[in-house]
Amino acid sequence: MSATVIDGKAFAASVREKVAGHVARLKEEHGITPGLAVVLVGEDPASQVYVRSKGKMTVEVGMNSYEHKLEADTSEADLLALIDRLNKDADVHGILVQLPLPGHLDEDLVINAIDPAKDVDGFHISNVGLLGTGQKSMVPCTPLGSLMMLRDHHGALSGMNAVVIGRSNIVGKPMAQLLLGDSCTVTIAHSRTKDLPDVVRRADIVVAAVGRPEMVPGDWIKEGATVIDVGINRIDAPEKGTNEDGSVKTRLVGDCHYESCAERAGAITPVPGGVGPMTIACLLANTVTACCRANGLAEPEGLTA
Ligand code: GUN
Repeated sequence: MSATVIDGKAFAASVREKVAGHVARLKEEHGITPGLAVVLVGEDPASQVYVRSKGKMTVEVGMNSYEHKLEADTSEADLLALIDRLNKDADVHGILVQLPLPGHLDEDLVINAIDPAKDVDGFHISNVGLLGTGQKSMVPCTPLGSLMMLRDHHGALSGMNAVVIGRSNIVGKPMAQLLLGDSCTVTIAHSRTKDLPDVVRRADIVVAAVGRPEMVPGDWIKEGATVIDVGINRIDAPEKGTNEDGSVKTRLVGDCHYESCAERAGAITPVPGGVGPMTIACLLANTVTACCRANGLAEPEGLTA
């Protein structure tokens, strides 16, 4: 069997198009432009790339983008003061503090200082609790994007066996909650799970989110299962030769071994071009949702969990 490749790039483009439509309507009918504030502390190169691309796509769908770049040694008090200002700013509907933060800053404290209604990452304890109890919340972007792709591919997920590999607050735990919300039977596996291959072999849906390159081989995958690969790992690719500075070229791989998993799976997300592009699309979707809620307007259909 050869798997259907789930095209996250095309799916994300369609989500952004829908978002742009809602933004245009908010502007025309209500005179409101949704705004997203992104806060970056320090100069982590990967975070800089993400933040730049978030800002660019925010503007592309017609929303206002507010970028706040702070020095790596910014004090917790100064960061909290900025969050307080953004919480009170009526033009800002979404606030995202890029993680990881430099070591001297308490991530939990900072995230929980964001107004939960503006917490477009869905990381605030209020949103975590709302999601866990099946109430309306802001839903973390990567799990939301993964859920959208699963629903699009399968229709209803009810009764399916889902295994989530990874228990992070950003992906694993909220992903499990969303799958449970869609009536899957959910197992959360992690580094201490016994007989992981056998656990994965029972899954109709496998979501891999551990950050270990090509950790899941094809023979762990049940014939016909759907594989959502959240991992984005850069590995050496000596077969591609060397760069001008003599360093070895690299390539991106997921947490699943793509070729062997694709032979057994019914459907699979590629890396790159699978879950990755959905994350920012869902961030934009969450910002529109937050803006509609803040203004007492009906929220867009199909863009939330
Ligand atoms: N760093 C890596 N992923 C994320 C994310 O989804 N949100 C934020 N704020 N930081 C991240």
